[in-house]
Amino acid sequence: MKLACNGGPAIRTPDKAATWPIWGDAERKYLNDVLESGVWSYNGPFEKRMLGAWKAYVGTEHALAVANGTVSLQLALEALDIGWGDEVILPGVTWQATAACVLDVNAVPVLVDVEPDTWCIDPAKVEAAITDKTKAIIVVHLYGNMPDMDRISAIARDRSIPVIEDCAHQHGAEWRGKRAGNLGTVGSFSLQLSKVLTAGEGGLLTTNDADLWTRLDALRNCGRRPVVDDPDETKGAGAYKTEGDLVQSGNYRITEFQAAVVLGALDRIDDQIVLRERNGRAMDRVLDGVGGLEPMKRDERQTRRSYFNYAFRFDGDTFAGGGVSIDRFRTALSAELGVEFDPCYEPLNDCTLYRPLTKQRYRISDEHVRAIDPSRFSLPVSERTYAQTSVTTHHSFLMGDESSVEDFSAAIEKIAANADELR
Ligand SMILES: Cc1ncc(COP(=O)(O)O)c(C=O)c1O
Repeated sequence: MKLACNGGPAIRTPDKAATWPIWGDAERKYLNDVLESGVWSYNGPFEKRMLGAWKAYVGTEHALAVANGTVSLQLALEALDIGWGDEVILPGVTWQATAACVLDVNAVPVLVDVEPDTWCIDPAKVEAAITDKTKAIIVVHLYGNMPDMDRISAIARDRSIPVIEDCAHQHGAEWRGKRAGNLGTVGSFSLQLSKVLTAGEGGLLTTNDADLWTRLDALRNCGRRPVVDDPDETKGAGAYKTEGDLVQSGNYRITEFQAAVVLGALDRIDDQIVLRERNGRAMDRVLDGVGGLEPMKRDERQTRRSYFNYAFRFDGDTFAGGGVSIDRFRTALSAELGVEFDPCYEPLNDCTLYRPLTKQRYRISDEHVRAIDPSRFSLPVSERTYAQTSVTTHHSFLMGDESSVEDFSAAIEKIAANADELR
């Protein structure tokens, strides 16, 4: 049978794709409550309820809400007092925000290569990249995988370097039973529309460090320090000190509307994680039986996966006897299943949306310009993963019924059987 990318019938049509985002009566009611209350801005009752629920969910002492998952990273760096002259280690495969936040505090992003079977930061290379200027390590729990958090934590502990977890992809994931966002010094989450917990836009921060939380609270809110025991606190913004221990900052706050949507979504996140995990495991089993395709590594210590994307690996030398390019494979799979299958993020040493030298603001000195030039970093595993092996699709594909896994299996079988059409 002809492949769908060559005009044949598709295994699954786009109308069968699971929809995202998902919402229900709770969100409708909460949004209406916010509308009618007139408390539309920050520190309102929904934000407080949502943050209470979120810190209980992650297991940390403290949580804060901010405008998005980019400024959450930036504020984490600022709260840790990281700035000019400092270096921050981060993985070569991630969304550009993980590095851009470092530029935005005038520090130097140090790009480190990833492991080929998780695409997460390689602890041995983290260790090799540490200098006396290293002031933080940002780990990214990428797609459905986590880096080796035992080794990262040990390296960071030995050298007293804080770990920032970029959990934009992994709300609810666990390492040895502990939730993402509770494994390092501070956790950062995105609530952008494509994410597994979303308010359209927004961000969350988690920490067990009360001082850090106090600084983060001020940094997200124009530097204000709240008055403790404010009698009007429950009504919204609350009272703030105007003198004393203040800090320079801007407005990085979230709105009540966003908090209301997140509060509603928290009631179904666990069921959704279970569904994605069931389908993800079933898709891994499909891949296990096909030469030239390989699921991502399953590390026993990662006790729960929360997939932003489902990802797997392709080997052009062995799939269907060799000779099929990864681009053609992804095009064929996308056409058969009616959803996009893409490569991983472009490696940050040559990434379309990570161009530090294009902004005057970052050209602080000749030395800084050389230090932030991404092309100085060698990232062979990241480059090979992007160019030759990575296949990813949005988590909504994992939210279908069993037929989605059967169709995934049928599509791969069909492509393998008709690979001559792609050679
Ligand atoms: C790994 C990672 N970090 C940070 C972000 C930034 O989040 P936001 O889009 O909410 O600013 C994203 C968003 O795509 C991401 O994927």
